[in-house]
Amino acid sequence: MARKLLLEHINVPDIHTFDVYRQKGGYRAVEKALKTLTPDEVVEEVKKSGLRGRGGAGFPTGMKWSFLAKPEGVARYLVCNADESEPGTFKDRYLMTHIPHALIEGMIVSSFALGAHTSYIYVRGEMMPQIRILERAIAEAKNAGFLGKNILGTGYDLELYVQPGGGAYICGEETALLESLEGKRGNPRIKPPFPAIAGLYGCPTVVNNVESIAATVPIINDGGDEYAKIGIGRSTGTKLISASGNLVRPGVYEIELGLPVEEFIYSDEWCGGIANGKRLKATVAGGSSVPVLPANLSLKLANGDPRLMSYESLSEGGFATGTMMGSGGFIAFDEDQCIVRNTWNFSRFYHHESCGQCSPCREGTGWMEKVLHRLEFGHGKMSDIDLLVDVSKKIEGNTICPLGDAAAWPVASAIRHFRDEFEWHVNEPVKSLDTNYGLANY
Ligand code: NAI
Repeated sequence: MARKLLLEHINVPDIHTFDVYRQKGGYRAVEKALKTLTPDEVVEEVKKSGLRGRGGAGFPTGMKWSFLAKPEGVARYLVCNADESEPGTFKDRYLMTHIPHALIEGMIVSSFALGAHTSYIYVRGEMMPQIRILERAIAEAKNAGFLGKNILGTGYDLELYVQPGGGAYICGEETALLESLEGKRGNPRIKPPFPAIAGLYGCPTVVNNVESIAATVPIINDGGDEYAKIGIGRSTGTKLISASGNLVRPGVYEIELGLPVEEFIYSDEWCGGIANGKRLKATVAGGSSVPVLPANLSLKLANGDPRLMSYESLSEGGFATGTMMGSGGFIAFDEDQCIVRNTWNFSRFYHHESCGQCSPCREGTGWMEKVLHRLEFGHGKMSDIDLLVDVSKKIEGNTICPLGDAAAWPVASAIRHFRDEFEWHVNEPVKSLDTNYGLANY
């Protein structure tokens, strides 16, 4: 059985309550950090663990923490990014629903490490049940003396607030999130300066994903070195994967990084294979923002070695500049799925969610969507295929935030690996009008 650090007690009845979480060893990390370690020592443990940001970028968490500016007399903030909205990603929601205290405990440990006395959990606005669950859990933790003034008599004060999100995918981009938290429209800011220098209200701020913050609990309990022994190479620890698509058992899984993709898809311990006895056609390993890979490349690298669930292995042979591990939103497509239709679907999402600040993204996502729509609905031209590649190249790298790249990569990779399917839509068009949408003549 694979090791579980975050979901070990997921099946314990009432684990969402403070009392049961505490009985199972919860809040030991807070006691250890606040009573026996200095903030710098907590940062050091997280650095040693090799933990990389679990929201999608995979940036080393300890390094991010050590970049936090500490000017005298200026407040510092920790903001948890719980605005999980990446298509195919639902692991943070799962964790917050079932073990909210894992996040709260991680928030206390992390806030202490960063010297923050006011911290926020910015939760996707649609997740009302999770917002209520977290608010209740915060109240329980406060009653038990783990939040508020003079926590456990150590002299450390922390107030923790839950902020409902603005209801837009872009509000999950860290600087848009900060704008939204300040009460403004969620438009991304230009980086640098990074939030670590000028974040919330212009103050030094760390923005971390839910899972990254929760992972600091086992790191402090067991030590950074122990955590670093799990996983493979620079992909240390465990990772929550949201598995969806045509799988026998979709769901949220905690894997040790380094698990072969083939085992993850086909083993009965994990997804149990492709549903209805079909064959695997393609995968998207890390949410809709990463390239789509055909079955052979999903399972094996170009040299024949197995592809592993790790930041490095998943990125090999792709052409995204970021990591294809992304947010861990693993989507499997069976042989019956239409890649053109799926690409159009993703495109529709990015066009709708573009904030409109940068022309390449505002205009380009719309054009990609329209061209994909006419291809899918039988009105496309052969030249549309290269037009899409061209538009995707003009978006990639030319926008303030990564939404543009995220919109461009799925289109470019789908054409790169499945060009024949795009050509088939031109040569053998199934002419139809999507009446719900009505844009076939663009
Ligand atoms: P990024 O690579 O720009 O930054 C990663 C983190 O490192 C940020 O917190 C940034 O402030 C920090 N950082 C990087 N260089 C730094 C420096 N020199 N000094 C201080 N801090 C520094 O990536 P970003 O925009 O944070 O995330 C993009 C990823 O988000 C995508 O790869 C995508 O997979 C993922 N994503 C996840 C979603 C979800 O629902 N989980 C939704 C949309 C995207």
